[in-house]
Amino acid sequence: MHMKERPRRLRQTPLVRDLVAQCRPRLDRLIQPYFVCEGTGIREDIAGLPGIARESVDRLVETVTSDLALGIRKVMLFGVTDRKDAMAATAYDAHNPVLQSVRLLKDRFGEDLFVSADVCLCAYTDTGHCGVTVSNQVDNDRSVEILARMALSLAKAGCDCVAPSDMMDGRVGAIRDLLDDNGFMNTLILAYTAKYASSYYGPFREAAKSAPGKGDRKGYQMDFRNRTDALRELRLDTAEGADIVMVKPALAYLDIIAAFRKKSQLPVAAYNVSGEYAAVKLLAQAGLVDEGQMVIENLTAITRAGADIILTYHLRDILKHGWYQ
Ligand code: PBG
Ligand code: ZN
Repeated sequence: MHMKERPRRLRQTPLVRDLVAQCRPRLDRLIQPYFVCEGTGIREDIAGLPGIARESVDRLVETVTSDLALGIRKVMLFGVTDRKDAMAATAYDAHNPVLQSVRLLKDRFGEDLFVSADVCLCAYTDTGHCGVTVSNQVDNDRSVEILARMALSLAKAGCDCVAPSDMMDGRVGAIRDLLDDNGFMNTLILAYTAKYASSYYGPFREAAKSAPGKGDRKGYQMDFRNRTDALRELRLDTAEGADIVMVKPALAYLDIIAAFRKKSQLPVAAYNVSGEYAAVKLLAQAGLVDEGQMVIENLTAITRAGADIILTYHLRDILKHGWYQ
């Protein structure tokens, strides 16, 4: 056959394929999430997230130390506690597990470790909602005050980056103002800008003991039928001072990641969430897929869509098993 174009010419050998490969995720742009709980000497498996644990502060510091040796230099901390109340007071209590961990980690590792932490109230409210409930409603403005206070306590503990995941209106601006007023103009804000109400968070809620007791999160998280709402949130978070804008979940929202990359001048992050991780683990456990290959395919797809930064529970396994070089 006579053909001028033969696309297969560029697929012949591994070296040719590498030569023309257009997109590779970068290990130095991945962030590993951790769950830190009250107590000492605790490391409990999380049933829905094989390989991920809930750890007390002392064990978390051990885990981060060994992860650092593996090559993990960026972490995201989530708190787990039974000390919950109506106003989420534990969220900014200096003795909560996250604040203790941030102080210990920054003390020990300084600039060798980039420490970010979740800013949300769902692990600390007795309702399990991401904001505080006043007269039977999740009260936006009261919640924003508490979220800003939580962010300030994290900055004071030495946190490099605060990550508001609550989806209250105006929280990025309120956090930026309070941080700046207290001299923390260098603390980064990684905003969960387009966070959709999603079934893919199921395993996380078990891990963080943060499922809402009643109702759902649709009054503040975004409706997956909508696209322009994400662009509206992007405009607002950008104007309010976000440093990094995030889309969450990742794999079912590649179109939103691509839209962010096109519209924004900020780094775009994506959260490869707990349900996405658990799905890969279940397929691999059933012997239906090669786990390493599926993980790299997923992270490449998220990168190809336009994400610069990815939060993923897979990072430790990638490094441990050498799935990617
Ligand atoms: C809490 C929060 C959630 C996640 C990150 N922060 C859960 C939720 O909104 O219910 C989900 C992360 C994951 O599923 O991996 N605001
Ligand atoms: Zn929350």
